[in-house]
Amino acid sequence: MRFELNGAPADVEAPPMKRLLDVLREECGLTGTKEGCGEGECGACTVLVSGEPVCSCLVPFAHVRGAKVTTVEGLGGNHPLQRAFAEEGAAQCGICTPGMLLAALALPPGATLEEIRAGLAGNLCRCTGYTAIYRAVQRGK
Ligand code: FES
Ligand code: FES
Repeated sequence: MRFELNGAPADVEAPPMKRLLDVLREECGLTGTKEGCGEGECGACTVLVSGEPVCSCLVPFAHVRGAKVTTVEGLGGNHPLQRAFAEEGAAQCGICTPGMLLAALALPPGATLEEIRAGLAGNLCRCTGYTAIYRAVQRGK
């Protein structure tokens, strides 16, 4: 099935109802996307599908036919958001971090603190208390 993955054309064979999360990690070898709850509650598995954050644990692979999928690997490692997360101490265990980064990427430039809080409301973090994450997103956007 053809789609766009991190800016490049992809053609991946996988069962259509397999979870996007698993296709990304297993068929595509992109293990940056994490599984937390597996039930759409924690946001750890967030990726962008055509610019919108989705829980990849809830999305069947068939859903992304022809779509643009962005994972944390698509940020390249030196994205301003990634640098800001490192500099602000916004990642501790790191399980929530890829999903936080993708949810933050989908926010408009210059998003207010309230917009950041709302945009990240579906992404849970058990480590940081969120303040450093909000600071990093404000700095990296
Ligand atoms: S693993 Fe997908 S929302 Fe928790
Ligand atoms: S850094 Fe551990 S869950 Fe967020």
